[in-house]
Amino acid sequence: MKRVTRPATPFEGQRPGTSGLRKKVSVFQQPGYLENFVQALFNVLGDASGKTLVVGGDGRYYNRVAIQTILRMAAAHGYARVLVGQGGILSTPAMSAVIRRRAASGGIVLSASHNPGGPSGDFGIKYNIANGGPAPESVTEAIYLRSREVHEVHTVDSPDLPLDALGTHRLLDTQIEIIDPVADYCAVQRALFDFDAIRALFARGFRLRLDTMWAVGGPYAKALIEGELGAPAGTVVNATPREDFGDLHPDPNPVNATDLIAHMAAADAPDMGAATDGDADRNMIVGRNFAVSPSDSLAVLAAHATRIPGYAAGLAGVARSMPTSTAVDRVAAKLGIACYETPTGWKFFGNLLDAGKVTLCGEESYGTGSNHIREKDGLWAVLFWLNLIAVTGKSVEQLVRALWAEHGRCVYSRHDYEGIPTAQADALMRDLRAALPGLPGTVLAGEPVAIADDFAYTDPTDGSISSKQGVRIILRSGSRVVFRLSGTGTEGATLRIYLERHEPDPSRHDLPAQQALAPLVALAEQVARVRHFTGMDTPSVMT
Ligand code: G1P
Ligand code: ZN
Repeated sequence: MKRVTRPATPFEGQRPGTSGLRKKVSVFQQPGYLENFVQALFNVLGDASGKTLVVGGDGRYYNRVAIQTILRMAAAHGYARVLVGQGGILSTPAMSAVIRRRAASGGIVLSASHNPGGPSGDFGIKYNIANGGPAPESVTEAIYLRSREVHEVHTVDSPDLPLDALGTHRLLDTQIEIIDPVADYCAVQRALFDFDAIRALFARGFRLRLDTMWAVGGPYAKALIEGELGAPAGTVVNATPREDFGDLHPDPNPVNATDLIAHMAAADAPDMGAATDGDADRNMIVGRNFAVSPSDSLAVLAAHATRIPGYAAGLAGVARSMPTSTAVDRVAAKLGIACYETPTGWKFFGNLLDAGKVTLCGEESYGTGSNHIREKDGLWAVLFWLNLIAVTGKSVEQLVRALWAEHGRCVYSRHDYEGIPTAQADALMRDLRAALPGLPGTVLAGEPVAIADDFAYTDPTDGSISSKQGVRIILRSGSRVVFRLSGTGTEGATLRIYLERHEPDPSRHDLPAQQALAPLVALAEQVARVRHFTGMDTPSVMT
């Protein structure tokens, strides 16, 4: 075993997006591609002596190859210790838990989250810092700049390490420890929720169907839900992680989790349905024939948080990404706590959580979480709902309808236009931005425009500014349309249009969302010429 330094040539385009560097597997398979990025990361991180690094991924295709490469490079870089999830597995929330509980200096997450996997799918790499959360923009930008000037890569000439058995190995002076990937995560959940109450709920015959979409959530859900909490075997379905997620799209929304939605619409539907994504940080909650919007889910959790042991002392505040509906704002106002509006991406919640300004946070994209870790957490959300149902005796639908009755319904939808030629998407955004100054005061969708701007965020803890985070057109009533380009896609550009309208009238709460939002869709077409630029008559996905 010896240290080797290989000459390298920088790669173009290694700029991390909303959540790390995501590319097609074939891009990562280019010789030197992953090494280049990891070298840039290590160059930015500097001296590793005495430090602990955590490495793990969602088990998708290329996970094992990438982990072996990173272990060799971490040893060459001089880490004292590297913790690796057994089999190379760590869900994204489990990574965050391990970093925090083991006081590691950071971790490397190998995942492309909800993006499809397999040889023709996507792969990704993301660095999390010592608080357990995604590195802030200052770090990801530094990595990108370094990636353009990597001229040598430091590694070790050594055989692959066995990842499948717990144990300790040595690479140069680095101790490599293969750890149980679920233990730390389960310990964190145990400290938050009333497991006895949830156990009693299952003992009373409560039926849950938890679809982990052939992804990494499976082992965690089996251990907690069917193991500790005593739900019957078969409660967690599609639970064996596969490298290609069974050739499905592991994104828990009604469009991709069709099997779950069908089960929840059946005559003998379980009491609650839920799904988690490729790396188990996203969640969808479904009642009987009743899909809960992620924005409503966040609001319900905030409204009842004090019923949960881990949050009994109350919430410091809440945060949501800008495009997420304002349902949680209304709950926060009622509770008399602050509500922060951040740009899209979990990394923006980290500082607020670290500073103790917020306890719960969430995004419209099926992400919810809290200060227990620094990532969103799919199974945590499922446990939170189970705990709430256990102590309130209410169903999923009753909890959501109570929210609407009290605060009105924030009718919400996101329309995605996928695979648009990048130049066309950029042109749409450019024209739209140019039109903004003329919009305030004009009447659109029957109402005057109150605000038309490009969202910019000043982090209240460190003053850092993130601009161009999404174009917003907000009408006088608060109805709004938001436009932004995805930062996680790997093919062309994806335009996301977020639509929200507040409906106070309970007799209109059951109107189909798309119908209620039609005037806002027309507004979007009018101001952004969506058809013209995308060449598409309808969105590729509506959630
Ligand atoms: C998407 C979601 C965003 C989420 C991110 C990572 O990013 O919209 O809320 O944080 O995935 O899960 P986007 O593709 O929109 O940049
Ligand atoms: Zn994810």
